[in-house]
Amino acid sequence: MIELENVTKNFGDFPAVTDISFRVEPGEVLGFLGPNGAGKTTTMKIITGYMPPSSGRVTVAGFDVVSESLTARRHIGYLPETVPLYTDMTVEEYLGFMGTIRGMPRDRIRSRIGDVIDVCRLEEYQSSHISKLSKGFRQRVGIAQAILHEPDVLILDEPTIGIDPIQVVETRQLIKNLAGDHTVIVSTHILPEVSMLCQRVIIIHEGEIVAVDAPENLSTRLRGSERIELEMRAPRDEATRIIESLEDVTGVTAVSPREAEVLSIYVDAVAGSDTRAELASTVVSRGWDLLTLRSTGMTLEEIFLNLTMSEDLETA
Ligand SMILES: Nc1ncnc2c1ncn2[C@@H]1O[C@H](COP(=O)(O)OP(=O)(O)O)[C@@H](O)[C@H]1O
Ligand SMILES: [Mg+2]
Repeated sequence: MIELENVTKNFGDFPAVTDISFRVEPGEVLGFLGPNGAGKTTTMKIITGYMPPSSGRVTVAGFDVVSESLTARRHIGYLPETVPLYTDMTVEEYLGFMGTIRGMPRDRIRSRIGDVIDVCRLEEYQSSHISKLSKGFRQRVGIAQAILHEPDVLILDEPTIGIDPIQVVETRQLIKNLAGDHTVIVSTHILPEVSMLCQRVIIIHEGEIVAVDAPENLSTRLRGSERIELEMRAPRDEATRIIESLEDVTGVTAVSPREAEVLSIYVDAVAGSDTRAELASTVVSRGWDLLTLRSTGMTLEEIFLNLTMSEDLETA
């Protein structure tokens, strides 16, 4: 239903999104999880046709979002990060206006306004000025406009950000209800939110996909490990056996071929441990030449930590 092929977006020299590819099947709810600045909003703007990619291709319901933008958009409902609401309009006037600019026939607009007000539980506020609404209710108006033209795909950019806890619960429930008959991508920087809403999660970090999995598998990986890359001149079997027996080490994977002169391995260790000093002294004390020893960058666990910390900050 949604397909991204090698999508890249650069702002000047800055790579906001790099070579992202994935598919979302009809009826699926996909979570797009990543810390602030990860590239979630940029990717969503590209999917909805609001911004062209620097390279790569996106189709929604089979239509290219750049070359067949108008047709593609008929299939897409978009809740942007900041909804451009016209605060001097009433909820009804605003929805009518959105229907008109989308070219919906007048009768259909009228009946759909009734439907979306019902679905988004806005009955009490349909004649209120948007300026009078709380952030949570404005967000519901944002969702109402997104579903007004009955799109089959919904792109929701951080739908629960900045709204009060009761509204967060109701908004999540509303999204769950919509999930039944829509294909949905919902972005969030809140880890528990994806578990509640999504069947599959893509974790994006610094513009790249770092993991794709079911939420429950991601939680398992959360208990996972820290990875260290080690290169040395050492007897392969003996070295892997000794390193495997170290206290914090959970696994060793040999990377170099068996006949290679230099032994290259990945050492997985308990998350949060720093086994580098112990690894170094083990290698050196055996009289092996240590050639490389380094942590392989940010682990999934560190990214998770980042994500869960943002939730704490927000609810603090
Ligand atoms: N219009 C723009 N011009 C330059 N840089 C941008 C622009 N929009 C986003 N960025 C940068 O691209 C990166 C990804 O941003 P964004 O997609 O908004 O991330 P997220 O939604 O995950 O927080 C950030 O570093 C951001 O500063
Ligand atoms: Mg964003």
